[in-house]
Amino acid sequence: MPPANNMFIVTPLSLDLVIPDSTRVGVEQQNTHFRERAAGRLPWQHSHCSTSDGQHQQQHGGSEQNALTQSGQGRLQHTRTLSSDNLDGLLPSPSMRSLASMIAETPRSDISMMSLEPHPTFVDAWRCLRRAVVRFRGVAVGTIAAMDPSEEALNYNQVFFRDFVPSALAFLMNNEPEIVKNFLKKALLLQSNWEKRIDNFTLGKGAMPASFKVQFDSTRSHDVIMADFGESAIGRVAPVDSGFWWIILLRAYSRSTGDHILAETPEFQRGIKLVLSLCLSEGFDTFPTLLCADGCCMVDRRMGIYGYPIEIQSLFYMALRCARGMLSPEGDGMEMLERIEKRLKALSFHIRSYFWLDFEQLNTVYRYKTEEYSHTAVNKFNVIPESIPNWIFDFMPMKGGYFIGNVSPARMDFRLFCLGNCVAILSSLATPEQEAGIMDLFEERWKDLVGEMPLKIAYPTLESHAWSLTTGCDPKNTRWSYHNGGSWPVLIWLFTAACIKARRRHIASRAIELLEARIAKDQWPEYYDGKLGRYVGKQARKFQTWSIAGYLVAKMMLDDPSHLDIIALDDDVKATAPMSRSASWSF
Ligand code: GLC
Repeated sequence: MPPANNMFIVTPLSLDLVIPDSTRVGVEQQNTHFRERAAGRLPWQHSHCSTSDGQHQQQHGGSEQNALTQSGQGRLQHTRTLSSDNLDGLLPSPSMRSLASMIAETPRSDISMMSLEPHPTFVDAWRCLRRAVVRFRGVAVGTIAAMDPSEEALNYNQVFFRDFVPSALAFLMNNEPEIVKNFLKKALLLQSNWEKRIDNFTLGKGAMPASFKVQFDSTRSHDVIMADFGESAIGRVAPVDSGFWWIILLRAYSRSTGDHILAETPEFQRGIKLVLSLCLSEGFDTFPTLLCADGCCMVDRRMGIYGYPIEIQSLFYMALRCARGMLSPEGDGMEMLERIEKRLKALSFHIRSYFWLDFEQLNTVYRYKTEEYSHTAVNKFNVIPESIPNWIFDFMPMKGGYFIGNVSPARMDFRLFCLGNCVAILSSLATPEQEAGIMDLFEERWKDLVGEMPLKIAYPTLESHAWSLTTGCDPKNTRWSYHNGGSWPVLIWLFTAACIKARRRHIASRAIELLEARIAKDQWPEYYDGKLGRYVGKQARKFQTWSIAGYLVAKMMLDDPSHLDIIALDDDVKATAPMSRSASWSF
């Protein structure tokens, strides 16, 4: 049972997750071996890597395959997700490679000690990120959301799950996995473990908190962790995305370090199943997408994303796929794996078919007939063409497309949400054609979506009557500000990863250059305002950690694209089994 107050206090006793000693020793040995190798004290082994046509190639120094092999222990030992020809043309430039190896070779050291000069913004970012590290009884367990001394902290002094993801990736890419492992373990201990209590803002069993805070308890003379599942958050919004990010991060940690034993422990297996049981449980819903309340993810205020927001659907899909790769079939594992498989199939079909919008599809919707009955209906959700907003007709290029914000009965939210589209690419929820279409759209509508500061969290903005109706007159979400068409630097890591996967590195490079030109001078704002993202956000925090970490991850990935392997998923053949549109109803 949770305590009566609305913060869950974890007692010191409950905070030690027991991992068998044999596991710990094995992983430590692996990590030591990897660090030695990364630091050049051990030679990189020549290994064989499978190409897509099934042939094996010997790796050579300086070759793309070599770069792939060197970037992580996991990749030395396990089959790669991206085969070598997936990464054609992704060879890092010589100058960037030297930067990458310098960073890889200086785990835990101050980057400023390096002999060659990396970009000053990069150096500044590492310093800021290290300052943001939060410790629990001396052990690094996460990073604080923002360290802006000039603003009221509110809950920005907490470790947010979603905010920690880019920090974690930066540390993993720099061969510093311990903080990530500690976070994953602490998160597991914080996972909600009680039955849902309707009247107490309490989430059901399996939910992960939005954030946690480490506080020194002077009466007990030690640190305690306080978790917030949304019961203290502004608007009491429940974080549906936290559990998904935790699963995604667990896979990233395993791939990056080669430590698969952590995910295999009974505690972690149970944690994964609990997150997914909550999402796969039966209700009245007939769609394979996940039904959510407003403000349930990065957009954590009322913004009209209730229903089936693309951000959650993409993360749900990605978490299901990551879990499928980590769950053991033992015990009740097989049953869960079967449920995952079934849901993945229906979910991917639904999103690829009904959320996708390009010029052709827009024209189809524009000509929709309404009031169709039975499973043969073309306009399945009875969307009334008059509800199509005017802006979309000019915005939609002849080439390109995207997944729209939301689809439900008589409702298509045509807004473009960046995070959901990037995660759809990374998880291969987007088909290769859709992946290319999203990239085309970014190129065609660069000024609107990137402008002077990457990237628009949502496009376009809501104004006047639509703003008051949708946001409830939220003064933080005024036009072209914050979640309402603001520009969020953190999105650069997702965009860069998506660009690399879609083989459009040049686009990411252009965006990073824009960001790099001013973000450190502006003191790492949380977001920018204005149609072009020219102004530092009205209420933006400075030294926002995920702006810092997002930039670092983007830089490191662009420098060494093989880092993509820890976060991206290959095309899923099973999920692309041919289906016809109406067939989705027979699941
Ligand atoms: C804001 C953002 C949310 C983020 C939090 C901490 O509430 O909307 O996505 O997690 O700040 O940075």
